[in-house]
Amino acid sequence: MSTVNVGLVGVGNCTSSLVQGVAHYAAEPDAPGLANPVCAGFSVAQVRFTAAFDVDADKIGLDLAEAIWAGPNNATRFAEVPVLGVPVLEGALGDGVGHEVGQRITARGAATVESIAEHLRATGTEVLVNFVPAGSQLASELYAEAALLAGCAFVNCIPSVIARSPRWVERFETAGLPLLGDDLKSQFGATLVHRALVELLAANGVRLRNTYQLLAGGNLDFVNLRDADRMRTKKETKSSGLRGPDGAELLPPSNVHVGADYIPFLADRKIAVIRVEGEGFGGTPVEVDLKLTVDDSPSGAGNVLDAVRYLKFAMDQGVSGVLDPVAHYLMKAVPRPLGEEAAAAGLRELLARG
Ligand SMILES: NC(=O)c1ccc[n+]([C@@H]2O[C@H](COP(=O)([O-])OP(=O)(O)OC[C@H]3O[C@@H](n4cnc5c(N)ncnc54)[C@H](O)[C@@H]3O)[C@@H](O)[C@H]2O)c1
Repeated sequence: MSTVNVGLVGVGNCTSSLVQGVAHYAAEPDAPGLANPVCAGFSVAQVRFTAAFDVDADKIGLDLAEAIWAGPNNATRFAEVPVLGVPVLEGALGDGVGHEVGQRITARGAATVESIAEHLRATGTEVLVNFVPAGSQLASELYAEAALLAGCAFVNCIPSVIARSPRWVERFETAGLPLLGDDLKSQFGATLVHRALVELLAANGVRLRNTYQLLAGGNLDFVNLRDADRMRTKKETKSSGLRGPDGAELLPPSNVHVGADYIPFLADRKIAVIRVEGEGFGGTPVEVDLKLTVDDSPSGAGNVLDAVRYLKFAMDQGVSGVLDPVAHYLMKAVPRPLGEEAAAAGLRELLARG
């Protein structure tokens, strides 16, 4: 049975949910909550973790199965994970730890791009998943570079600019490697609901005026977003997620407000409060207020589980560069926005190569 060999960068809450999810759904593929038990021909049981990197001194050296419960991680425990035989290695720090997170962890990170690439090669890693904190452009680039050197596909789950950078796209194309990014969408999260709401209003002739999305959570991601520069990158990808079915912007970015607050007792729960204001028939006001509560980290895990399986499929078929139709479904900010019909047709075409 062929496997999808996955390396993980950042053993935080999202990685915890992903690693738990593989144990959970490999044992019980029909358990609720998984959109695609089989994706691009691969079952969840075919996904293997082969490498992991972090910079938190409390996680380095632990087996991946232990490290997911260490440090400030507080994602819900929904599965027991057996020892995986995958040690968490010290990564390359770059700009991975900002001021706020730096108060809470002891950061190391002396690895080089070459040593990371060497470990990826030695472990047979095929797809590298980037889950470092938002706002870590340099750290993301160090790992993208290591992926290129090691011949790995790369999925950029964070708002740094990799798949939207023509330079990085060209480098992955030249290396014959597929790429997905930027910033993972959640299964049923604030971006998806917000987008559906503005699309519905626009499709019914309401002229959209203003909207906000206010988020609150109590995990390390929300600590990190207290750094204004890091929050800015998140705002950009969230605003660019608000597009219509033809890929066109539904509101000018200046009329879209995105904010986030850290509330410790919420732990890994995320609350999103969304408001949309528009003008209906005769210029009369239309206002929608909506509140959504989800567990933050598990809500991204299903999509990344699909992403790694699509990337492995693309590698097997010799497809390189950004997988645009897949990015349409799984990522918030994409290099070439597609409409629904083009995305569905593109995905069918990709899968027909198998
Ligand atoms: N549903 C979601 O939670 C969701 C959705 C979309 C995107 N994201 C993004 O995914 C990323 C990860 O989210 P999370 O909740 O797991 O965050 P987290 O803060 O729990 O985990 C981040 C981990 O990265 C480690 N790290 C920091 N710098 C590093 C480096 N240079 N090399 C290796 N490891 C490093 C930290 O020590 C920590 O363990 C964030 O950027 C977040 O914005 C999350």
